Amino acid sequence: MTVTIVGAQLGDEGKGGIVDLYGDHADVVARYQGGDNAGHTVVLDGDEYKLSLVPSGAVRGKTGVLGNGVVINPRTLFDEIDALKERGLDPDVRVARRAHVIMPYHRLLDGIEEEAKSDSDLDAGTTGRGIGPTYEDKVGRRGIRIGDLLDHEVLRERLEYVVPQKRAIYEDVYGKTAGEEFDVEALFEEYSAIGDRIRSAEMDVNAGEFLAEHLHDGDNVMLEGAQGTSLDIDHGIYPFVTSSNPTAGYAATGTGLGVTDVGRGEVIGIVKAYLSRVGTGPLPTELDGELAEYIREEGGEYGTVTGRPRRVGWLDLPMLRHAARASGFTGIAINHLDVIAGLDEVKVGHAYELDGDTIETMPATTERWGDCDPVYRTFDGWPEVDWDEIAAEGYDALPAAAQEYVEYVETEVGVPAYALSIGPGREQSIVRTNPFA
Ligand code: IMP
Repeated sequence: MTVTIVGAQLGDEGKGGIVDLYGDHADVVARYQGGDNAGHTVVLDGDEYKLSLVPSGAVRGKTGVLGNGVVINPRTLFDEIDALKERGLDPDVRVARRAHVIMPYHRLLDGIEEEAKSDSDLDAGTTGRGIGPTYEDKVGRRGIRIGDLLDHEVLRERLEYVVPQKRAIYEDVYGKTAGEEFDVEALFEEYSAIGDRIRSAEMDVNAGEFLAEHLHDGDNVMLEGAQGTSLDIDHGIYPFVTSSNPTAGYAATGTGLGVTDVGRGEVIGIVKAYLSRVGTGPLPTELDGELAEYIREEGGEYGTVTGRPRRVGWLDLPMLRHAARASGFTGIAINHLDVIAGLDEVKVGHAYELDGDTIETMPATTERWGDCDPVYRTFDGWPEVDWDEIAAEGYDALPAAAQEYVEYVETEVGVPAYALSIGPGREQSIVRTNPFA
């Protein structure tokens, strides 16, 4: 069966921890969108591994697949694989031949377009990894795919077509001086060698076929979404979004499995007990001052990839109802309940007020979302407790106020909480349902 993991908010919900928790029961972990904009930390036997492309399961001896919907920066991929090898691991990572490649010029163009947009406050605060420009080229039918790196003749042909266009944009539109990033020969040399390495390591796969065979053999496949629903190019707060679809429909498109394969499985929305946001745009339940500082420090809310301090806010229920519908959640996991412990009261944005009406889900435009005033519900806070003890004892040991919070979220979102995280370690979780069981 499949279990699809989807961020229900704005990314950084702690998806990695849940993937890790259930990953033991998976045989294969596949990513279906995004690229090295998604940072995650894996802790194994006390060692910390910071990864952005290699699926965390691959650190634990599972097969990791980067599906066709992922944009792959091979430099990052091999840096991560080499770093893991140096530490004695031998990750099994497969890459879809249909996946698009992030080229050096994509990164440069990402930065430069953000700079240009910042004059009109339209910059999305991207991670600068070249994600948007790569997806643009994919849709514009001028992208370079993993399969092209394997065939030198095709690679040369593609580079000769696309690189002069990119160079012209860089030089003529932005007035910059192009370097090696726009040099066909230099790019050919580096990327054909990368293609050779992929081939000789037998990393390239027809992802859909590969995963379907595993399912056919009765294996468990985890489909790991990156970022979150409100960063989805279609269902998020456009234009302050990423350039792919973290929502569950893309778990099929971005791997080559059928929607029925995904739909027959479970779709778990990952919810952080409060909100955090990297980047720009409105945020109706945003907090500032001491309270924001407290949550930021307690939750270590600094970007994994960029190190930027994250904006924080109260949990936003309209956002969660929207996410649950867009992906068809069958369950949720609520993370970081420990981070907001120790507060006198905890608020939740239950609904919005917009032009005198009360609405329970997100408006379709970001400008209208920015006009929304949250209608808050206030809960009693719960104390700091010995979270290890609670994790050992289970759900009933959780402070009553925290249970009330969890049950309220379950009722409003309409699905049960399969797991709760109450600390950063794998053992600091309460697992109520194992979707693979
Ligand atoms: P991009 O994905 O680098 O193009 O960035 C687009 C937007 O998505 C920016 O607001 C980023 O901060 C945000 N973003 C991208 N990846 C992540 C992530 O893994 N966590 C949180 N925000 C992200």
